Amino acid sequence: MSVRGFRGELLLVAHDPRDRADAIRHEPDGLLIVEDGIVVARGPYADLAPLYPGVAIEPLPGLIVPGFIDAHIHYPQMDRIASHGAQLLDWLDRHIFPAEKAFADRAHADGVAAAFLTELLRNGTTSALVFATVHPQSVDALFDEAARRNMRIIAGKVLMDLGPEGLADTPQSGRAESEALIRRWHGHKRLGYAVTPRFALTSSDAQLADTGALLAAHPGVLLHTHLAENLGECAAVAERFPDAHDYLDVYDRFGLVGPRSIFAHGVHLSDRACTRIHESGAGIAVCPSSNLFLGSGFFDFGQADRHAVRLGLGTDVGAGTSFSLLSTAGLAYQAALARGDRLDPFRALYLATAGSADLLHIADRVGSLEPGQEADFVVLDTAATPLLARRTTGASLAERLFALQILGDDRAISRTYLLGDCVWDKHADR
Ligand code: GUN
Ligand code: ZN
Repeated sequence: MSVRGFRGELLLVAHDPRDRADAIRHEPDGLLIVEDGIVVARGPYADLAPLYPGVAIEPLPGLIVPGFIDAHIHYPQMDRIASHGAQLLDWLDRHIFPAEKAFADRAHADGVAAAFLTELLRNGTTSALVFATVHPQSVDALFDEAARRNMRIIAGKVLMDLGPEGLADTPQSGRAESEALIRRWHGHKRLGYAVTPRFALTSSDAQLADTGALLAAHPGVLLHTHLAENLGECAAVAERFPDAHDYLDVYDRFGLVGPRSIFAHGVHLSDRACTRIHESGAGIAVCPSSNLFLGSGFFDFGQADRHAVRLGLGTDVGAGTSFSLLSTAGLAYQAALARGDRLDPFRALYLATAGSADLLHIADRVGSLEPGQEADFVVLDTAATPLLARRTTGASLAERLFALQILGDDRAISRTYLLGDCVWDKHADR
């Protein structure tokens, strides 16, 4: 049995600060006690340290926050980030589908999966909900590597029987491959499975119906897809499904809307859809950098909040322009302001940690460093760049946090810990 202590400035936002006055926990001189990778105590150093005599305590300079949780990202797209000149449907055809075809090759998938997980950790992201490709071996590659590193990762094989040649499954193969992957991976170590139809346009009615059946047969797994992201996409969905009330209703008709459903984007939603998302218990992964990059629009926080829609934060790399959930939080602030809403920096931190954890149904394990949770955390450096150092000197906690979100990125991640072990140290020789 190993017991260790970590001393430093702790900041946790376990609940949405809009809902609870006690959501924000700040210990200027805090202590985290970790036993076999699990947080067993947390509080002021002066109160807690005497209760753990003889325990080795490591001082951590910086702001300690829970590991970030990316609620929507595509690992096979990491090498197509920053691909120029197109909105969603065109961008998929020109840049993304050709890149995803390469994941038929397991060795290629292995190499990208390893680089991807390293990049997550460099950015302070310790958990993520991840799109693989249509190839089941792309999921094996990611899960094998995530299991080796003991990361909490949820992913799934993409279902897309209407995809382009070389990147299409069939309702039968998609179902059988998903079932096999669920059996192999769901609940293994820290891994979970998400049934992953790409979006309404790349699956036949038969495959969408089959996806609903798959979900019903496996109540523990998530549903992960895209929803109402880009106007061109929304127009094509409305044309193909003229009888549906709206885009969400397409998924609803096939049994894909429920408490374990995570929809990426939701930029263009009707009030009816928001009401239905709320009452079903589903939620949205907000992806502001991607929405800006593909010209998709600004997420409507005001509308989502009026309907009490559950939200998390996603980068959506490769349409997203950074792996950093710090800078993604900064863009969420700017997207909110573009529609007249103000995203508080503590709420942005909540969305990137406990909010995403709640959305992904892993809030009992990670997201707020509560006793009993897994000790995944990050040490942030508020002086990571000369400008950050100037802006944060003498500043309040809220100002420092906001500056990290507007000016920070991977440079502000000093260290990343998984289950109490340091797995990324910016200052270590590599
Ligand atoms: N909609 C369907 N596929 C994709 C994808 O790969 N990225 C994004 N951003 N939207 C999608
Ligand atoms: Zn996406």
